[in-house]
Amino acid sequence: MGSTSGEDLAGKTVVYGITGGIAAYKAPLVVRGLKALGIDVYAVMTEASSHFVTPLSLQTVSGRAVCTELFPLISPDAHQVEHIALADRADLLMIAPATANFIAKLANGIADDLLSCIALATRAPVLVCPSMNVNMYNHPATRKNIELLKERGVHILEPAAGELACGWEGVGRLPEPERIVTEAKKHLYQKDLSGISLVVTCGPTSEDIDPVRFITNRSTGRMGAALVEAACVRGASTKVISGPVALEYAPWAQVLMVRSAEQMLAAVTESLKDADVLIMAAAVADYTPAQYRESKIKKGDKLAAIELKSTHDILSTIKPLKKDKFFVGFAAETENLSESARNKLITKGLDMIVANRVGEPGSGFGSDTNSGVIIVPDGTLDTFERLGKETLAHKILDFIRERV
Ligand SMILES: Cc1cc2nc3c(=O)[nH]c(=O)nc-3n(C[C@H](O)[C@H](O)[C@H](O)COP(=O)(O)O)c2cc1C
Repeated sequence: MGSTSGEDLAGKTVVYGITGGIAAYKAPLVVRGLKALGIDVYAVMTEASSHFVTPLSLQTVSGRAVCTELFPLISPDAHQVEHIALADRADLLMIAPATANFIAKLANGIADDLLSCIALATRAPVLVCPSMNVNMYNHPATRKNIELLKERGVHILEPAAGELACGWEGVGRLPEPERIVTEAKKHLYQKDLSGISLVVTCGPTSEDIDPVRFITNRSTGRMGAALVEAACVRGASTKVISGPVALEYAPWAQVLMVRSAEQMLAAVTESLKDADVLIMAAAVADYTPAQYRESKIKKGDKLAAIELKSTHDILSTIKPLKKDKFFVGFAAETENLSESARNKLITKGLDMIVANRVGEPGSGFGSDTNSGVIIVPDGTLDTFERLGKETLAHKILDFIRERV
C-alpha cells in the first residue's frame, strides 16, 4: 500500500468491486477512467452483478482477469489466498455501485463471497458508492448501515437525486463515472497540503458593455481547475474565485463566481484574510468599458468606438495585504516570456510566477497542455514543454509546498 503526493497515479492499484445494482452498467466507464490515469484496476464482481454487466466487458477494459470466485482453483496468484492477496495489493478498495444488500453485509462484517472477504481483510481506504431505489436508500436499515460504515471511517460517495432506473424519482442514482473517478483520486493522494488554505483565481473576467455585449478573453479556466483539483486531493482547504467558465470545479472546493475584474478584486481582497497561499491563475481583463450602457446599443446608433479604461491591477492593489502569505502569479505571453515574467515577479512582489507561452499549439488558453517557465526570486525553477495541465498543477503545488 502506498500514497502519492505530487507524483502521478501510475502504479497505484484500485481493487474495484461491482455489486448487483442496475447501475453496474457504468462500471466499464469507471474502469476506463481509472486506467486513463495509469491506475492498475482489479475488478471484483459479485455473482448478482453479472446480471447487469458482463465479466468479459470488465476484463477487456481492465486488461486483467476479473475476480469472481472465493474458491478459485486457478487464480492470478495461484500460490496465494486470493482475497488476502487482493486486499493487501489495494491502495484503494472502491465499490460502485454498492447495493443495499452489500452495504448491509459490510456493516455487519459478513464475509460470504470474494468481495466481502476482501473488504474485511483490507487495510486500504474503502470508498463505497451506494446506488438503489429511493425507498431502499431511505429505509432505516440502510440509513443505519451507511452511518455505521461512516463511523468506521469508510468513505461514502452519496448517490445523486433524479429519475431512477426503477421508475421512481429521488436519491439513489449512482454518480456519473467521471465523478466516481475524481472521488477515487482523492483517496489515492497523500494529504501533504492539509492545514494549508489556498485561494485560486480562475478563468477570464467579462467586462460588460451593455446588457447583451461584453469584452472577455480566451481563458477557459482549465489550468485553474487543474490546480483546484490537485490542491483538494492533496488536502488543502481550497477556495476558487472564478470568472464565467463552462467547466465544473472539484466538488470539494468552495466556489465563488464573479464576473468583472472589479468583482474579482473585491472577492480576492475579502478571501485573502484566511489564506496562506494565493494563486492568481485567472486572466483578468486589463481594460473595461469606461461607461456601462444601461440599454442595448442599437445598430442604428452608428457606434464608432468604445472608450476603455484600465482595470485595477489585482496583484498590485493587494500587495500591502501580502505579509507572510505566499503569492503565485501567472503570466501569459507571446514573446520574451522569461524576461516579461521576471519583471512581473519583481514589480508585483510575487514569490513565484508561472509563465505560459500563448498563441502556439499545445500551450495556453483552451489547450490540454502548457509550455513555459516557473520563476522564483532566486532564478528559474523549471522549464516545461507541452506538459499536461494536471501534471503541471501538481508540480506547481510541489514547489509551493517546499516554500510554505
Ligand atoms: C432488475 C434489478 C435491479 C436491481 N437493482 C438494484 C439496485 O440498483 N440497488 C440495489 O441495492 N439492489 C438492486 N437489486 C437487488 C440486488 O440485485 C439484490 O439485492 C442482490 O442480492 C444483490 O447482490 P450483491 O449485493 O451480492 O451484488 C436489483 C435487482 C433486480 C432484479
